Amino acid sequence: MTDRQGIFAGDDPFGIARDWLAEAAKTEPNDPDAIALATVDADGLPNVRMVLLREIEADAFVFYTNYESAKGSEISASGKAAFVLHWKTLRRQVRVRGVTEREDGEKADAYFASRALQSRLGAWASRQSRPLESRGALMAEVARVTARKGMAPSRPPFWGGIRLRPLEIEFWADGAFRLHDRFCWRRDTVDAAWQITRLYP
Ligand SMILES: Cc1cc2nc3c(=O)[nH]c(=O)nc-3n(C[C@H](O)[C@H](O)[C@H](O)COP(=O)(O)O)c2cc1C
Repeated sequence: MTDRQGIFAGDDPFGIARDWLAEAAKTEPNDPDAIALATVDADGLPNVRMVLLREIEADAFVFYTNYESAKGSEISASGKAAFVLHWKTLRRQVRVRGVTEREDGEKADAYFASRALQSRLGAWASRQSRPLESRGALMAEVARVTARKGMAPSRPPFWGGIRLRPLEIEFWADGAFRLHDRFCWRRDTVDAAWQITRLYP
C-alpha cells in the first residue's frame, strides 16, 4: 500500500505525466515539453541537452532529432537514455530512464510533414553536431536543399523519432522545508508490472 494521493494518484504513470504536462502548459511561459535529455558516450562520459518531448504514448515517450548527431550516435550505441522535465512554475519534476528504439515509420513521416517548411528544409541542411565553417555555409546549404527538395521535402532518412520506453519514472513535487514528495515507478523490463515506492526527499 502507498499513500499516493492528489497529483500522484492513478495506476498509469503515463497518464500522470500527461496530466502534469497539461497543467504545466497552462503556467509555463514557453516550451512546457522541453526535456533535458541525458546520454552517455563510448567512454561512459555523460552528455545532456534540451529537446522537445513531442508525444507521451500509452507506454513510451517520443522526441525527434538527427540520428547522426552526438545524441543520435550515443543512443544508437547504448540503446539507453534518460531525461528530466522540470517546471519552475509548478515546482515539480519528472525523471525518466529507459531503453530506446527509433521511430522512423509513418508516425515520424507525419510529424515531419506537420513541421513548418523552413524547419523541414533546415533538417535536411543541418549536419547536426558536426563542425560548421560559418553561418554563411549553413545558409548556402539551406538554399541548395531548397532548390533540390522544393516545397514538399520528404523526411530525411537521418532524421526521425526516438521512442524511450521507461524502466523508471519518478514523480517529484516540492514540499515545505525541502520535505518533498517523491514516488518512483520501477519495472525490471518494459513488459513487467510497475513497482511503486515512495522515496525520502
Ligand atoms: C528548448 C530547446 C528545445 C530543443 N529541442 C530540440 C529537439 O527537439 N530536437 C533536437 O534535435 N534538438 C533540439 N534542441 C537543440 C539541442 O539542445 C542540441 O543543441 C542539438 O540537438 C544537438 O545536440 P547533440 O550535439 O548533443 O546531439 C533544443 C534546444 C532547446 C534549448
